[in-house]
Amino acid sequence: PTAAALQWLTPEQTAGGDFPFLFTQSQAVLARTWIPLQDSPGIRFTYNATIHCPANLMAVMSAENDTTLHNDGAYTFKMPQAVPSYLMALAVGNLKFHSYDHRSGVYAEPVTIEKAAYEFEDMPKMIAAAEELYGPYAWGRYDVLVLPPSFPFGGMENPRLTFATPTILAGDRSLVALVAHELAHSWSGNLVTNATWDDFWLNEGFTVYFETRIMEKLYGKEYADMLTVLSKGELENTIKELGPTNKDSHLYLDLKGRDPDDGMSDIAYEKGRFFLTTIEEAVGRNRWDDFLKKYFAEHAFQSITTEMFLEYLNKELIKDDKALAEKININAWVYGPGLPANCPAVTSTALKIAEDDAKAFIAGTKTPEQIDSKNWNTHQWLSFLRALPENISVDQMVALDKQFHFTASNNSEIKCDWLLLVIHSKYKAGYAALEDFLCHVGRRKFVKPLYEAMILTDDGKEMALKIYSKARAGYHPVTTQTIDEILNYQTK
Ligand code: BES
Ligand code: ZN
Repeated sequence: PTAAALQWLTPEQTAGGDFPFLFTQSQAVLARTWIPLQDSPGIRFTYNATIHCPANLMAVMSAENDTTLHNDGAYTFKMPQAVPSYLMALAVGNLKFHSYDHRSGVYAEPVTIEKAAYEFEDMPKMIAAAEELYGPYAWGRYDVLVLPPSFPFGGMENPRLTFATPTILAGDRSLVALVAHELAHSWSGNLVTNATWDDFWLNEGFTVYFETRIMEKLYGKEYADMLTVLSKGELENTIKELGPTNKDSHLYLDLKGRDPDDGMSDIAYEKGRFFLTTIEEAVGRNRWDDFLKKYFAEHAFQSITTEMFLEYLNKELIKDDKALAEKININAWVYGPGLPANCPAVTSTALKIAEDDAKAFIAGTKTPEQIDSKNWNTHQWLSFLRALPENISVDQMVALDKQFHFTASNNSEIKCDWLLLVIHSKYKAGYAALEDFLCHVGRRKFVKPLYEAMILTDDGKEMALKIYSKARAGYHPVTTQTIDEILNYQTK
């Protein structure tokens, strides 16, 4: 009952409200809390499982699934391919399945299934694009399970069955890069696995790179560049927060004696991705893609360290080309802090327009009515919101809200960025929405910065504690562990 990987949800904590729900989250080191095993990403196993649950609920695992409800509540699973422990996953709930084609579909609660089915309709195309890039999908089926809103992550690449937050159901398919990301892990991470959590960037950096390539193939370079520009902005903030010499900004981490969860940041994701983009630009896309294809094929179902990867890179790609090695500067990327000087530049005209409009509004040279935002997508809105300063005035918040209705937004990404401004500006008309958001959503990426922003002032700290005392029971242990620490929250 108290295993930290598990969250047992009451019916009220689900979207439908009628049935309880259970799900697991094993990465990074929580598999050991619900299964006795050797919990290291350097060790793999196959497994069989039998699950008994109430007859009206469906059980699913990161294993072979027949996608149907069993009237006796008995389910057997087989995972014939060897996987590391952090990919063990189980969920039980009132689930429906929507099929896209012979090998992919989506599970969700009945009240969510239609919305989910619409949102992820491009999944078969994503799988095909991924295969075209880096070789056949190795796991048979690829399905997505949409969880209740307390799921602590955006997505989790459980083999054959990605777990996903419902906060990506924006209604306009604008947040589906997350599916491309979790799908990409079917190669980087699940086939070729980081041997230790110090090598975490081998999982996430490769996956962000691969995700971006899938997005570019499906939606074009301009669209993919929007996502990359926003991510680079987040990376620059992380590096600023970590400071110029912090070893947690190295790609190769040193997590000795720590909970790996504490040292994982978007360094692995975004610095990792830009390192790979640097290599791509240095050798050309064709050579790089050939290399990657071979890398995945030759290391399939194995765990790999950073040193092993660099050796392979030298042997297969860099060879004795000293000029190329100098141009890439592996040492600075992997064993040094911050962003190396040769980090590729990336720009987006569409995002720049939104950013400039935000600045013009703050400077008083444009009113909200004069901003031509009719055709903006989610990413342009994020660019707009991120260009607004923390010291924005309440009057300015009122004017923006009146024109653009941010407080009422149903897009979780836009909402979260807006709520940060609500906190910074003490815009009281947004407080109810803030509390409501924090009491319904448990995705750590959203709730963490909101609590962090609140505790910067005395009033805010009081508000944070008041909200948290209500919201905490609805969060998964992954999230409560983080927020307990931020708020110095004492449990009896
Ligand atoms: N594997 C990660 C989630 C994770 C990492 C869980 C480390 C526990 C420890 C997953 O693939 C991931 O990266 N999810 C991201 C979304 C992605 C689009 C960047 C998330 O949850 O926000
Ligand atoms: Zn990932």
